[in-house]
Amino acid sequence: YSSEEQNILDAYEWSNKLFHHVLKHTKDGKDALNYVKNRGFSKDAIEEFQLGYSPYKDQFLSAFLKGKGFELENLAQYGLLNSRDGNSFFDRFQGRVIFPIHNHQGKVVGFGGRSIQDHLEPKYLNSPESKLFHKGKILYNFHRARKYFQKLNQVVLFEGYADVIKAYQAGVHHAVATMGTSLSETHAKILSHYVDEVIICYDGDAPGREASFKTAKIIKNAGMNARVANVPNEMDPDDFFEKHGPEAFQNLIQSAENDVSFSLQYIKKNYNLNIDHDRVQYVEKALDIIATVNQAVERDFYLNDLEEMFKLDRSTLLQEIENRRRIMQ
Ligand code: GTP
Ligand code: MN
Ligand code: MN
Ligand code: MN
Ligand code: MN
Repeated sequence: YSSEEQNILDAYEWSNKLFHHVLKHTKDGKDALNYVKNRGFSKDAIEEFQLGYSPYKDQFLSAFLKGKGFELENLAQYGLLNSRDGNSFFDRFQGRVIFPIHNHQGKVVGFGGRSIQDHLEPKYLNSPESKLFHKGKILYNFHRARKYFQKLNQVVLFEGYADVIKAYQAGVHHAVATMGTSLSETHAKILSHYVDEVIICYDGDAPGREASFKTAKIIKNAGMNARVANVPNEMDPDDFFEKHGPEAFQNLIQSAENDVSFSLQYIKKNYNLNIDHDRVQYVEKALDIIATVNQAVERDFYLNDLEEMFKLDRSTLLQEIENRRRIMQ
């Protein structure tokens, strides 16, 4: 790190310690601590993930950092503080529960701030992109999760901070999340150095399923196997943990289906399978997906379903698969 970057890292480290202390031990943090406890975050998780709180005050963190001798202008450039016209500085994350974001070496390089009041928008405020914080490269919790990658040869991918922390509480330690963006090719490439399989455990709503479909492709293109957990509709993994507990949560992950089954099911929403024209279109798309499977036995397994569902001739289906695979070579 350059000396400027080291200075920013120090500031983030101090800020993290301060916010964590405020949450646990001060009157300013009392409502936030109640919020965090009511949401089911355990004492151990609050410690492990170093959760914090930034008080609803303009000059709480900024005064503290000024007292430590930091140049506030630099800190504003890295999104730790906000500025008015570039000459007065104030707290960016005020009124928010703080999820510190570590880079893959384990240094705090950003914060995710969760509003605990309805009127305070947006719901999450994250640190902006900077030389130290690239959302397309960093995965939340990577530096902790990496210790578990080799043994399990697998990573579980979530949407949110809360999902990762609940996974931890359920004993699922090999978990990471993207931060408000989708999984990038760079993220996938990084993961592919450590594991052969990614279990996608996104929210059980329409955007979550859409993202699962896209993300599965990115994972496969990076040479890994993808599976998709079936989070029940309109819940996210965090909600699921709160409703059904740790064993059910582990089951949800373990019973994730393979990406081909998921995709074949997912694309059905685009077709009215009572109409002949749509049935043909669906079968064409389904064959595109099945043709990407490298094991003949596995392809056979999906072709069985297709043959039965649409009363199709097996030799025709096999021919179509052959044609597609020849083009793919
Ligand atoms: P909770 O309501 O606290 O349970 O949040 P969640 O984690 O379920 O959030 P959601 O599923 O809505 O979003 C998933 C992730 O996207 C969050 O953890 C954030 O990283 C990010 N995100 C959500 N809302 C916002 C937002 O308004 N702004 C930004 N920048 N990121 C967001
Ligand atoms: Mn602590
Ligand atoms: Mn969501
Ligand atoms: Mn969610
Ligand atoms: Mn949630």
